[in-house]
Amino acid sequence: MHRRIIAPGALAAASLLLAIPASAASYSPGAPGIGDPYYPYYGNGGYDVSHYDLRLRYQPTTDELQGTATIQARTTQDLSRFDLDFLLDVSEVRVNGERASFARAEQHELVVTPKRPLPEGTPLTVVVRYRGVPSTKSAYGFTTWHRTPDGAVAADEPESAWWWFPSNDHPSDKATYDVSVAVPDGTQAVSNGTLRSTDAKRGWTRYSWRQDRPQATYLATLAIGKFDITTSRSERGVPVINAYSKDLGAGAGAARASVERTGEIVDWLSDYFGPYPFATAGGYVPNTTTGYALETQTRVYYSPKQFAKGSNPSLVVHELAHQWYGDDVSLKGWKDIWLNEGFATYAQWLWSEHEGEGTAQQLADHVYSSHAADDPFWTVKPGDPGPDDQFDDAVYDRGAAALQALRDEIGDGAFFRILKGWPKAHAYGNASVADFEKYAEKISGKPLAGLFDTWLYEPTKPSAGAARSFTATDAAAPLPKSWNQIEAAHGGHGTLSR
Ligand code: ARG
Ligand code: ZN
Repeated sequence: MHRRIIAPGALAAASLLLAIPASAASYSPGAPGIGDPYYPYYGNGGYDVSHYDLRLRYQPTTDELQGTATIQARTTQDLSRFDLDFLLDVSEVRVNGERASFARAEQHELVVTPKRPLPEGTPLTVVVRYRGVPSTKSAYGFTTWHRTPDGAVAADEPESAWWWFPSNDHPSDKATYDVSVAVPDGTQAVSNGTLRSTDAKRGWTRYSWRQDRPQATYLATLAIGKFDITTSRSERGVPVINAYSKDLGAGAGAARASVERTGEIVDWLSDYFGPYPFATAGGYVPNTTTGYALETQTRVYYSPKQFAKGSNPSLVVHELAHQWYGDDVSLKGWKDIWLNEGFATYAQWLWSEHEGEGTAQQLADHVYSSHAADDPFWTVKPGDPGPDDQFDDAVYDRGAAALQALRDEIGDGAFFRILKGWPKAHAYGNASVADFEKYAEKISGKPLAGLFDTWLYEPTKPSAGAARSFTATDAAAPLPKSWNQIEAAHGGHGTLSR
């Protein structure tokens, strides 16, 4: 017990003195968006999150999610109020222990006004209590929360957090996570990182996961359902945790034959990209009907549809390559998407070469020659595709061809030094395409502005002379065997769930 020795009036006066800044005029609201031109209202201004603690309970039969989010952050300006990106129904918000008022704004904004203004550099503990039925919430006319017969999945890009936790939803504000979810006994909850504990009480089991490395909000994932969970270790010692819906039917074999190769593929990729950056690796295959995969950090989301034609290790290569290119080194802005998709696709080409199914050069030749000069494919600029074409084939395939052109220009030595050096140079951070261009010039010692301009920024097909390797073929290059598999691997990336 704490005994007050100061009269309440004096206390109030003293705290007023502390709270009201010398120049109250400098205190302003945090911006409703973090400043990404592709998505002006994604993320928020005025604070920087370091940790999300999500304590949740989910009932699959009703799709009811309830929870408390405790967000550790720090103000980056003198702040009078700030936004979180969130759609569920909020019952209480506290900032540093005190109740804050809150209101909804445009689409997915939750506006929080703390009792007193917050000077720049103030540590914040923001507690948000909430509940809701995520599948009933939409913004901009879509929902990315997917119910399954026995649960639900949150995994989408560029937005999926709004349906399950309040956040500063932009890859430039990375944080660590504790995700703890109680589900009815017999059901499992899968999330990122390491499973710290499972705790059964009164008909509910709580699964507590921890991501101890910085993670972008879109890479946080939650899957609830009836899963078989497998654990193993790669030859080089990376712990692997995979989960398969018990309801995959005849497709279960192909899914496992792909995803169980996670450890082998992580080790193989680490020869190109450097040591695996996270404490665990793995993936999960829920019984969804969506048709894409997502590189959710340490626990990749795979749709069973992508294994419908049989095993698909190339897809696993793609998503695991993102653990370095996308997850470890994340985008500064959504315009930088080539840093994710071009590189993950190029990793598939290296795998194809490794499997003897066609070299990276053959695949690049094929991309080049199978799209005529008047094909709209060439109008998409991988280095700045615009929000509508963020996941267009061109970002993936022309994007990977751009890397082959770079390799041809600077030679294998410099090229592979860059592939391995880049994740190290920006470990657990953020970078832009422009940063990559500078880095490639530094490592190779060559001016590359022309090459990047041709391959990433010109809305036209590069001329045959734009890179040595592409001069050979004008007629369609022979289709390497792996091509169908690669097509299947990212087929669907253009089909947004919204
Ligand atoms: N980054 C994902 C991939 O591995 C693409 C996800 C696209 N998003 C979507 N909702 N389809 O290629
Ligand atoms: Zn990808």
